[in-house]
Amino acid sequence: MIDLVLKLTRLLPPETSHSISLILLKIAHKLNLYSFFGISPRFALREPFKFKNLIFKNRLGTAAGLDKNGDYIGALGDLGFGFLEVGTVTPKPQSGNAKPRVFRFTKEKSVINRLGFNNKGLDHLIKNLKKSKYDGVLGVNIGANKDSDEKERIKDYLCCFRGVADYADYITINISSPNTPGLRDLHSKENIRELLSKIQIEREKLNFLNPVFLKISPDEDPNTHREIIRSLIDFNLDGLIATNTTIHRNSSHNSLIRETDGGLSGELLFEKSNEVLKNIANNISHNLLIIGVGGVNSKDSFNHKLNLGASLVQIYTGFIFHGPKLIKEILR
Ligand SMILES: Cc1cc2nc3c(=O)[nH]c(=O)nc-3n(C[C@H](O)[C@H](O)[C@H](O)COP(=O)(O)O)c2cc1C
Repeated sequence: MIDLVLKLTRLLPPETSHSISLILLKIAHKLNLYSFFGISPRFALREPFKFKNLIFKNRLGTAAGLDKNGDYIGALGDLGFGFLEVGTVTPKPQSGNAKPRVFRFTKEKSVINRLGFNNKGLDHLIKNLKKSKYDGVLGVNIGANKDSDEKERIKDYLCCFRGVADYADYITINISSPNTPGLRDLHSKENIRELLSKIQIEREKLNFLNPVFLKISPDEDPNTHREIIRSLIDFNLDGLIATNTTIHRNSSHNSLIRETDGGLSGELLFEKSNEVLKNIANNISHNLLIIGVGGVNSKDSFNHKLNLGASLVQIYTGFIFHGPKLIKEILR
């Protein structure tokens, strides 16, 4: 029933459909209608996974961007996910790029977005984190404001890190959105080492003992990824999230997809994100965690990421196309 309602919202433009779907879920959750709609958080308790001090209820979580502001933590948490990642949050609120900026390709089960970190800012997210009653692992993905220059960008990450440290079960440093000009330059050896060394100092100052992950782009070459792993080890990070969206279009012949700017996610990202996952899994030591993300839309694709070396898996686009029944299918 809820799947039918959510399917109907897909007749609306993608961004409107996304907002309305989340609002409907929140209302259904507030009115205790989940069990009436056949949604049960009991799936969440299948095969918990332990990493450091955290117990993930299961290995499937939401990817960043689905709930940028932490407005839907309760509603998403009770769908059965094993963990949630909110954000990307930036210090100041920002409206993002001009609309339209999200494009849905139903046949390809893929999405292109060039949102540009639209979010309500750090203070708003902190308010939501403070009042959250979610009892699962809640990660926070942090970024930089669009109008920050190179130096200010690092300060933005530190500001967000400080702001969310008391409430986040883990923090993800997101350097991989293709929609904030210059952000992906942080993948270079010099830049990543500067950023991570400052994060390390901040982390020690705050005595933040929970994991810190780095979310990477699928568009860098394998050497860059290997170099990043080295920096991760040097600055005591806990793992990698692979991957964000791609700016490349070689996975599709659809001219509309090829001509639309932004980050591509969903089925068309699956192979590319898996290549990166495989490469980093082959080069990573076993005490670094890998979270696989990109194109998961079935139990098989979920298992494939685990087989390639991911310990946890996140979804976004698959959830947009298939709704809550995908969680059930994956965790059953
Ligand atoms: C509309 C949209 C917005 C996104 N926003 C963010 C974001 O704010 N931060 C981030 O790290 N990733 C963001 N992502 C990337 C996803 O978290 C994920 O890495 C990517 O979509 C690949 O997974 P998928 O194929 O399951 O969607 C966004 C993706 C989409 C489709």
